[in-house]
Amino acid sequence: MKKTIFVFFWFIFLLKFGYSQKFENLALTPPMGWNSWNKFGCDVSEDLIKQIADAMVSSGMKDAGYVYVVIDDCWQIGRDSLGNIIADPEHFPSGMKALADYIHSKGLKFGVYSDAGTHTCQGRPGSRGYEYQDARTYASWGVDYLKYDWCNTGSQNPEASYKTMRDALYNAERPVVFSICEWGRNKPWLWAKDIGHLWRTTGDIQEYFDCELNWGGLGVLTILDKQVNLRKYAGPGHWNDPDMLEVGNEGLTDNENRSHFSLWCMLSAPLMAGNDLRNMPQTIHEILTNKEVIAIDQDSLGIQALKWLDYGNLEIWFKPLQKGDLAFCFLNRSEEPILIDFDFKKTIYDNDFGWKKYQIDENFKIRDLWKHKDIGDTHNNLKATIPGHDVLLIRLSKK
Ligand code: GLA
Repeated sequence: MKKTIFVFFWFIFLLKFGYSQKFENLALTPPMGWNSWNKFGCDVSEDLIKQIADAMVSSGMKDAGYVYVVIDDCWQIGRDSLGNIIADPEHFPSGMKALADYIHSKGLKFGVYSDAGTHTCQGRPGSRGYEYQDARTYASWGVDYLKYDWCNTGSQNPEASYKTMRDALYNAERPVVFSICEWGRNKPWLWAKDIGHLWRTTGDIQEYFDCELNWGGLGVLTILDKQVNLRKYAGPGHWNDPDMLEVGNEGLTDNENRSHFSLWCMLSAPLMAGNDLRNMPQTIHEILTNKEVIAIDQDSLGIQALKWLDYGNLEIWFKPLQKGDLAFCFLNRSEEPILIDFDFKKTIYDNDFGWKKYQIDENFKIRDLWKHKDIGDTHNNLKATIPGHDVLLIRLSKK
């Protein structure tokens, strides 16, 4: 009897004080939402965030699956005498709890940003040494998502630092999606599966299609190329994050926006819109809310696409989907149109997930996910012209 009581209390003790993990089941499909950084940088305020939340609902983005509204860097200004983090009172006069309540009242979820180091990348207070206190503060506000950056971390150990914040969040007892942002420097795909729900794999995305800036900013295709060998590390609850979307920001053409979105969906990437939702041209709205394309991203198998065939300027990416469906993305990396005449009747062998062979016979119908049209079947060759920097994104389903 004594032994049973001892075991019982030990179990309770471990549960409360000694045992931490990440919150499970929060990101069984890649998280979807909006983040302030790509469009607004440090120019954030409660008015902006409320207007974005309103637009997320009225534009149909919420219906399409976007749920997290995340304020990136620059919302925080200092700490009070007790060490509590303080939101900038000039830009967030009603406070973060009121903002979270507003966002929740729209049926959306609320996210904030901090940093594992002493300061954020924009020099605001980081969480180093305040992890448990900050996590409790976030829980009291109603935070549902934390993006946690890696600036000003000196010689800190990344795995230990991210674990500390994971444990702090878990102990604060409010489920939070934990977004690890250490830019892939220390290969988080090797150690972060049980720490965060998503981890950045590269430096910051910029609104370019194909380039690498000298300070390290990356265009869409440069980021894509860095994902090729990472696919086996992603899956339900733990995602590679090739960074937030630039769809709708200056610098990308409609074709490029379509490609960027298609490829991120093929990669099972988190879909965090980064544009001004209050003011979306029709084409951008159609891209971001295309439910057939989003379904590729949100497929419950959670298998990141394989770069299947590489013909230089033409690449074919392949993603297995539930119920035996298959998605293919034909990417034209060049500026000139490419004509395709493609015979699907080949065997695809997926090496990383070697347990399965995908046999394509003549019995699949083909649907163009941007045109929302059935365009034939695998009995015949697929013939199409793909404009420069554009994609042909199709879904194959058994007839
Ligand atoms: C880093 C991150 C970006 C953004 C900025 C904010 O560069 O990678 O995504 O959060 O910091 O300062």
